[in-house]
Amino acid sequence: MKGYDYKITAAGRINIIGEHIDYCGGKVFPAALSLNNTVYARANGTDKINLSWTTLPDNVTLDINGLDGYRNEKYAKFQAGCAYLWQKAGHKVIGCDLLMDCSVPFGSGLSSSAAIEVSTIAALATLAGEPLDKKEIALIAQQAEREYAGVNCGIMDQYASANGKRGCAMILDCKSVTHEYVPFELGDYSLIIINCNKPHNLVESKYNERRAETEKALEILKKVLPVSCLAEVTTEQFAKFGGMLSGKVYDRCKHVVEECERVKLAAEAMKSGDVLTLGKLLNASHKSLKELYEVTGKELDALAESAQAHPACIGSRMTGAGFGGCTISLVEKDGVESFKESVSAAYREKIGYDCKIYAAEIADGITVTKI
Ligand code: GLA
Repeated sequence: MKGYDYKITAAGRINIIGEHIDYCGGKVFPAALSLNNTVYARANGTDKINLSWTTLPDNVTLDINGLDGYRNEKYAKFQAGCAYLWQKAGHKVIGCDLLMDCSVPFGSGLSSSAAIEVSTIAALATLAGEPLDKKEIALIAQQAEREYAGVNCGIMDQYASANGKRGCAMILDCKSVTHEYVPFELGDYSLIIINCNKPHNLVESKYNERRAETEKALEILKKVLPVSCLAEVTTEQFAKFGGMLSGKVYDRCKHVVEECERVKLAAEAMKSGDVLTLGKLLNASHKSLKELYEVTGKELDALAESAQAHPACIGSRMTGAGFGGCTISLVEKDGVESFKESVSAAYREKIGYDCKIYAAEIADGITVTKI
């Protein structure tokens, strides 16, 4: 982009498995996508951050001496929140022009907001001449999402967006906030991402409600178990003490305990090239998110179920927070075209509008290019 000094990107993400357990201290298995947010950046020698977007007509100017004052901005609140919290953490924020170009579809559950947050902070740090500490960037971006966007989210999205690596998924331990890369190799299978295109609504409040339910479960189980987070509760312990929980809180906790187990098995399966087992775990995860965690909804269920019914598909589940957004499916390479046609047709028939299939690769998290 002419006139800018840097091109900085951060990625959208999928989560292969390990859903709604990052905020319970669990291990999750995300991968960064080639769908990303690009920030074209240059210093401007003023005390203002001028924001513009390739896809929006508006421009917004932020005063770097009053970054706390933009919480009601529809789009700029993400950048303002990041700049504010980055500054508050002791980093220098200098006046600059930032042009945003986002290829992660909004509301798709592929973490467009994390990509925007992480790339904004990476741009601010780059312009101030700071080395990029990707873990710190992810943690501040998460704080911005919580404080400015009102979603009490875990660390998965921002961490994957910052630390993703081309061709690799990562096992992210959300308790220690450390990761291990695992080559994303599917042999004869492809990963297909499909958006159910359900209009977004009330996702934040439902998400925060689930989180509160898991906190309730932890509070009760802590009375009898020496655990600091729900992910530490083993299946044996849950079998013994789960009865102390009731109703929805029991169901939510059961999902968390079992999903943690599935992540372990999925990581082993991926490492040993056992894609069939991985597929079965995806199906089991979706079932649990539908029946126990109740975050799927008829649209994601329609997509996952028609995918699972296709002969070339060995596993399918929702990915991300749920309540809308995307599914991921493992599909035999030879059957991909027929899979796409049949799932699209079944979805239109059942739900009444079209789903959307994305072409994306597993890509790097933050990238910085001098232009
Ligand atoms: C959203 C949140 C993440 C995580 C997922 C569910 O994407 O931002 O922190 O909790 O939902 O796994």
